[in-house]
Amino acid sequence: MSFDLVLFGGTGDLTWRKLMPALFQAWRHCKLPLANGGGRILAVARDERTDDEYRAYIRDKFAQVEEAKKPSDEEFARFAQLLHYRRMDVSQPGHYAGLKEWIDARGADTVVLFLATAPHLFPIVCAQLGAAGLNGPNVRLVLEKPLGHDLESAREINRIVGASFSEAQALRLDHYLGKPAVQNLMALRFGNALFEPLWRRESVASIQITIAESIGVGTRGDFYDRIGALRDMVQNHALQLLTMLAMEPPSSNDADAIRDEKLKVLRSLKPFTPEGVQRDVVRGQYKAGAVNGQAVPGYLDEAKVPAGSTTETFVALRTEVQNWRWAGVPFYLRTGKRLPARDAHIVVNFREVPHPIFHEPRGGHASNKLVIKLQPDDGLELHLLAAKGATTVQGGQETLSPVSLDLDFEKAFPSERVGGYERLLLDALAGRLNLFVRSDEQEQAWRWVEPVLAAWAENPAPPRPYMAGSWGPAASSALVARDENAWAEEG
Ligand code: BG6
Repeated sequence: MSFDLVLFGGTGDLTWRKLMPALFQAWRHCKLPLANGGGRILAVARDERTDDEYRAYIRDKFAQVEEAKKPSDEEFARFAQLLHYRRMDVSQPGHYAGLKEWIDARGADTVVLFLATAPHLFPIVCAQLGAAGLNGPNVRLVLEKPLGHDLESAREINRIVGASFSEAQALRLDHYLGKPAVQNLMALRFGNALFEPLWRRESVASIQITIAESIGVGTRGDFYDRIGALRDMVQNHALQLLTMLAMEPPSSNDADAIRDEKLKVLRSLKPFTPEGVQRDVVRGQYKAGAVNGQAVPGYLDEAKVPAGSTTETFVALRTEVQNWRWAGVPFYLRTGKRLPARDAHIVVNFREVPHPIFHEPRGGHASNKLVIKLQPDDGLELHLLAAKGATTVQGGQETLSPVSLDLDFEKAFPSERVGGYERLLLDALAGRLNLFVRSDEQEQAWRWVEPVLAAWAENPAPPRPYMAGSWGPAASSALVARDENAWAEEG
């Protein structure tokens, strides 16, 4: 297969921080489909550069990549042969005609157009691509969030995309779906018979999804301030994880079979009322504190954050999936910046034994849990109780001790790990849509978060403060404690 991959926003942050390192890794792992006909990666941006100048620009940016993922000079020289550059003003129809000529001159089997530009440019670029005829059956378009800031704006983008590209051509990328641990969640649930009988309300007491970040908003203060944690992380990444956890087994591994089931979960989520938002959603904003022993400023003192901003940098919420499998099981979601660590994980808490005959260890509730670790390490822990031996016998009854079975995927598959963007770029080139979000899923996710945004807009109370380096406002602990639960680090 031969391919052309066009990166709009070719000099931007997303391109050099994520896409180029991922493409380089894919190349290094010999995964890029270069065998028959080869491929070209064309970066497109506003300023004038030659191919060689662009290659030098990217080579310099690789200095910021972690050591193991840096190319040697010789590797970069070979990889760079795939890289090309083209100046384009995305508002000029003539420039699209030029791009089409460049692509048609070679006639690659597959053309992937990746919009790594500022989102306000998506409508114009999509419309122009369509008008220039750059939407043939061998073309796929990749769009990365943010795709709108509410249901209406998301629909508008989908309408414009839909006018030129079919649903199967428009790939909405959520980079969490590319993470190996997330694919392992599918493998765990649907490649093994072990957990399926337990994966339901009769055995599961509660589910927690945590996506914690230790970083603050960095230099993105003005951008982030218009978005906030609910739109930035919950509407997409956290809800995608929830759908994968809660979905029914799909009838096949086909993209639509999977996405139909995910959509059903989104439609089953308990809708928020204004009282529900008050009771079940906690929003927070970090104050100055310390993370990893380093003093860090509060959100309001970050560069480019407007004075008095009430944008949330933390959200914790409780919801339910209202169907036969999950009725009454609380699903807790939380995410935030300036938390103690970069730590994303899911905890499936199983129910207690119906009739205890052993002493429970202290803090013994939820003694059986499955922890699905997403990052920084990727693995599974199954927590059980076990008998240590006679030394723990108390008053004639044996006290059990917590133990865990740990599976570290890095160790299990030492040389085969593929990063999130690498996986998704390869899938986009191959036309595998399983890990891309369909427009109806994306719209339904917006429909579900909108009442929360509306309730916050009406409520003048500012977000709850939390100290940088803590696990968020105390109200987040109270939210789970109300159901006699505790977050993983408190248990
Ligand atoms: C992005 C958000 O989608 O995900 C960022 O816009 C966030 O604010 C990032 O930092 C987190 O991604 P990861 O892969 O580092 O967990």
